[in-house]
Amino acid sequence: MHKPLRSLRKGQARAPRRRPLHERAAPGGAVRRRDDRRIAPVIDVHDVCKVFELGQIRVDALRNVSLRIERGDFVAIMGSSGSGKSTLMNILGCLDIPTSGRYEIDGVQVSEMDEDDLSDLRNRKIGFVFQNFNLVPRTSAIANVELPLAYAGLPRSERHQHALAALQAMGIADRSHHLPSELSGGQQQRVAIARAIVTNPSLILADEPTGNLDSHSTEDVLEIFAALNAQGRTVVLITHEPDVAEQAKRLVRLSDGEVVEDRRTTNVHDRPPVVHAQKSSHRAFSAGAKEGRP
Ligand SMILES: Nc1ncnc2c1ncn2[C@@H]1O[C@H](COP(=O)(O)OP(=O)(O)O)[C@@H](O)[C@H]1O
Ligand SMILES: [Mg+2]
Repeated sequence: MHKPLRSLRKGQARAPRRRPLHERAAPGGAVRRRDDRRIAPVIDVHDVCKVFELGQIRVDALRNVSLRIERGDFVAIMGSSGSGKSTLMNILGCLDIPTSGRYEIDGVQVSEMDEDDLSDLRNRKIGFVFQNFNLVPRTSAIANVELPLAYAGLPRSERHQHALAALQAMGIADRSHHLPSELSGGQQQRVAIARAIVTNPSLILADEPTGNLDSHSTEDVLEIFAALNAQGRTVVLITHEPDVAEQAKRLVRLSDGEVVEDRRTTNVHDRPPVVHAQKSSHRAFSAGAKEGRP
C-alpha cells in the first residue's frame, strides 16, 4: 500500500482546511470554479519523463508521456513487463513524482501541492487497488476497510457503518470478521476494493488487480469495476491480459516507457462494455450501483 499518511503517523485527525483543494489556484493563478472542473480532465499528464538512476545505470521508465483522461472514462493501460505501467500509475496516484513534465489532477498542479495536500488527495479522491491486495495481515476485513476512514478522522461508529456498507456493496459483508488469510484471493480483492471505495473517491487506480485471480474471480472483479465506472467514477486499470482490457472504454499501450497506442472503443459517457460474467454473487452490488453514488 502507499506510504502511511502523515495524519496517521501523528495519530490525529487534521484540522479542517480553509478552502477545499479544488478551489485552490489553478496554474496561472486563476481559481477554477466548480463548473470548470466538469469539463477539465480529471487527469492531465503532459510530457512526463521518469528516470531512475541506480549508480551508473540509468533507466528511462517513462519517456515524454502525455495523457488526458476525462471524468467517467475507463482506461486500460497495457504493455509488457518493464514498459513503465506501474511507474505511470504511481505518478497518477501521486505516490511518486515525475523527473520532468507536468501532472495536473482535477486542474491542480501536483508539483505545487505540499505533503498535506497530497495526503488529502490520495485519501479522499483516489482509491488504489493492487495485484497482491495489500490487506493488513492479522486484521479483520472490516478493520482493513475502516483504515482510510481512520486516516480521515471519522468517529468509530461511522467508520464501522461505512465499512460495512462498502463490504455489502462488494457482496462480502458475511466475511467482515474474517482475517485476510481466511479469505480466497477473489474475496481478498473484494475487501481491497471495498477499502478503495469506502471514502467515495472519484478516481480508481488499479495495478493488475486480476493478476493473482482465477478466471471466475477475475470476472467478478471486472464486473465490480464496470459498475463503479457506470456510477461515474473514473477507472484506470493496468493489465497485461487482453480480455481484461476489453472491459475498458479506451486502451493505452506503453512500450519502453512510451505511449505507442491510444484507442477508444466506447464513448466516455456510455456504459462500459458488457462483462461476460454470469455470476450471481454480485446482485447486492448491482443493486447498490443503482443508487448512483458518484
Ligand atoms: N524504484 C525503481 N528504481 C529503479 N528502477 C525502477 C524502479 N521502478 C521501476 N524501475 C524500472 O523502470 C522500468 C519500468 O518499470 P515498471 O513501471 O515497474 O514496469 P511495469 O509495471 O510495466 O512492469 C523497469 O525497467 C524497471 O526496472
Ligand atoms: Mg507493474
